[in-house]
Amino acid sequence: MSTEHESRMEKIVSLAKRRGFIFPSSEIYGGLNGVWDYGPMGVELKRNLKDFWWRRMVREREDMVGMDGAILMNRSVWKASGHENTFSDPMIDCKTCKGRFRADQIESIPCPQKPSKIVATCEGEKMDPRDFNLMFTTHVGPMADDTNKTYLRPETAQAIFVQFRNVLETSRKKLPFGIAQIGKAFRNEINPRNFIFRSREFEQMEIEYFCHPTQGLELLDRWLEERLTFYEDIGIPRSKIHVKEIPDTERAFYSLKTYDLEYEFPFGIQELEGIAYRTDYDLRQHMTQSGKPLDYFDEVSKEKFIPHVIEPSAGADRTLLALLCEAFEEEEVTSEKGEQEVRSVLHFHPRMAPVKVGVFPLLKNKPPLVDKAHEIERALRPFLSVFYDEAGAIGRRYRRQDEIGTPYCVTVDFETLGEGGPALTNTVTLRERDSMKQERISISELGEYLLKKIF
Ligand code: GAP
Repeated sequence: MSTEHESRMEKIVSLAKRRGFIFPSSEIYGGLNGVWDYGPMGVELKRNLKDFWWRRMVREREDMVGMDGAILMNRSVWKASGHENTFSDPMIDCKTCKGRFRADQIESIPCPQKPSKIVATCEGEKMDPRDFNLMFTTHVGPMADDTNKTYLRPETAQAIFVQFRNVLETSRKKLPFGIAQIGKAFRNEINPRNFIFRSREFEQMEIEYFCHPTQGLELLDRWLEERLTFYEDIGIPRSKIHVKEIPDTERAFYSLKTYDLEYEFPFGIQELEGIAYRTDYDLRQHMTQSGKPLDYFDEVSKEKFIPHVIEPSAGADRTLLALLCEAFEEEEVTSEKGEQEVRSVLHFHPRMAPVKVGVFPLLKNKPPLVDKAHEIERALRPFLSVFYDEAGAIGRRYRRQDEIGTPYCVTVDFETLGEGGPALTNTVTLRERDSMKQERISISELGEYLLKKIF
């Protein structure tokens, strides 16, 4: 990573902590490597992202339903899916520094003892690569032995496959249709890194879209378009997303075609989402191993077959990191006093912003201004996340909202109370984050105006 990109990333991580987006987990005890907590701003941002994904991928489509599977599942699921035997990364142990590294990353990871060198070429005595299973083991019940062993799920997808029949029968959907799920997944990553990009506990937003085998390739391309549009609609331009078709040699053996959607992070172009054509591999495996029918009967053609699957699988945390990276800017601006200063701003798409509107009385020690501002705050709260702030100069309050990406701020002043004549009575100043332009708007129109602009 270049120094410029490194410094940009450091600023983003620092802002994320300072303004309550993301904290290291268990920080007061020294943290836990690869695990993060979302603070008050982060949780709102993530919720907006997941809610919008759910709205676009499930609620607005006739051919989708949702589910919410348990994190713990019968171990047989992980045997049948292949995870127990093959969900592993080759890793290399170093006898000199006692470090353990992913074999595919040794060209980029600095040596812990000599950071000026990379692991691949440092003097450390390295062992041959060995496979390391990424699933976290746990035991169900009081005895910790092999009979009650299972795993924290490493992906949400398997719950969808094993519930395919239940969902099909209860939803009465016909092919093609999909099942969507958002939930936690756990992987004991060997080298968690790049902030929340590669973590040990993370959230996935996954779709398994079931279809007739003849439709698979065409639907894969349709899903690619669908997912690119989604990223645009949350504020990540198409020009920043790289579509990579995975070559035959790197694809899972059962996949006929796979696209990775990659984003230009400051630390490099890296995967955001995979869209894989998984054929009938998963349903067939579970059908064979459980002995239960997971096939489909087409009432019209009288054909019985195992559906094929397209799987758009995105990471909520990685997308959130892309949102932060895309939105962050340090801008040179002229202050109200005419001085040049740097404004730190998050240009979130308004529908993603954790706080939608800041509401300020011009002065905090004037009860009529404060009362009116609280009245506006209360009226907006059922529909929008609002931040009421009366501390400090107005310019400072705007800057604080810019830094967390609030798209609109409303100021109640003496004109609102009638001191500027009837035309301005019951109007407020509405300030827009990106242009910093201000306009007057009547309080009665405010709610509808904001809802239209934001969603
Ligand atoms: N069911 C398919 C599946 O899990 P994957 O490519 O391993 O596919 C899908 O994961 C997405 O989950 C990735 O594109 C990424 O966004 C996210 N993801 C995977 N591992 C992650 C990790 N360790 N930390 C954060 N996100 C991760």
